Parts: sequence; structure tokens; C-alpha cells
Amino acid sequence: MTDEIVRLVALHADRRGALLPLLHDVQAALGYVPDEAVPAIAHGLNLSRAEVHGVVTFYHDFRRVPPARHVVKLCRAEACQARGAAAIENEAVRRLGVAMGQARPDGEVALEPVYCLGLCATGPNAMVDGRPVSRLDSARLEAIAAGWAL
Ligand code: FES
Repeated sequence: MTDEIVRLVALHADRRGALLPLLHDVQAALGYVPDEAVPAIAHGLNLSRAEVHGVVTFYHDFRRVPPARHVVKLCRAEACQARGAAAIENEAVRRLGVAMGQARPDGEVALEPVYCLGLCATGPNAMVDGRPVSRLDSARLEAIAAGWAL
């Protein structure tokens, strides 16, 4: 991990406005932005640790812990709500064994809210490991969980 952080900091160090692109690169490389990377990033970009920490914690897209093996993002926006998103969310919480906005302690799956995936006519919608799933219902949810041996 340290070598990769050093390499990425060096790649961005002389660029203006480097912090966000660097943080995105770190997350792309490691799957998250470890707290241990903050001092090296701050030093490399001549920023304070507090500045770097503030940006990492301000933007919800940055993870500070390793991602779960599988990520289910359920749409909570209006059109999906009108098509039964709340019921399928309750079922996902029960079937996957994880609360909304959390990852299971075993790291197998995380359940996250999203607010519109641009597929409103075919809700309720989800992104499952980056792949859109429309008309999510009990059978599809069960097939997804079974496919992961959950
Ligand atoms: S409201 Fe769910 S995809 Fe748009």
C-alpha cells in the first residue's frame, strides 16, 4: 500500500488542485482512502493533515475502510418509491443481513442508498456490484443473494 501511495502522490504533487484527483486515484487503486495515507498525501501536496482529512470525510464517495466484497445500492428516489422501493429495501435488509448504509461485519456485502439511477420507468432499481438491476423484486433479490452464497 505504501509504495502505491508514494507513487500516486509523486504523480500529482506538482499539479494544481491535485487533492481530489489524487484521492480518487488512491481509492481506485486501493478501494478506499486509508487514514494511514493522509500524512503522506498532506506532506506531498503541502497541505495540513486536517485539510486532507476534511476533504476525505466531506465527500461521501470516499471510503475510509476497505469496501465490502459485494455492494448493493438501492434507489430511494421518488419514482422507485412509488414502485415499491421501501418494501424491497426492507426485504434486502432482512435477506442480506445488513442495515441500510452499513456493511456486514464479515465484509461480504454492503447496502447503500442512492437517489436516482436514471432508470425511473423500470423501478424499483438497484446497482449490484456496479451493474444496474431493474424491476427488483423478491425473486431477483433471492437470486442475487444465492449467487453470492449468502
Ligand atoms: S427514481 Fe429510482 S432510478 Fe430514478
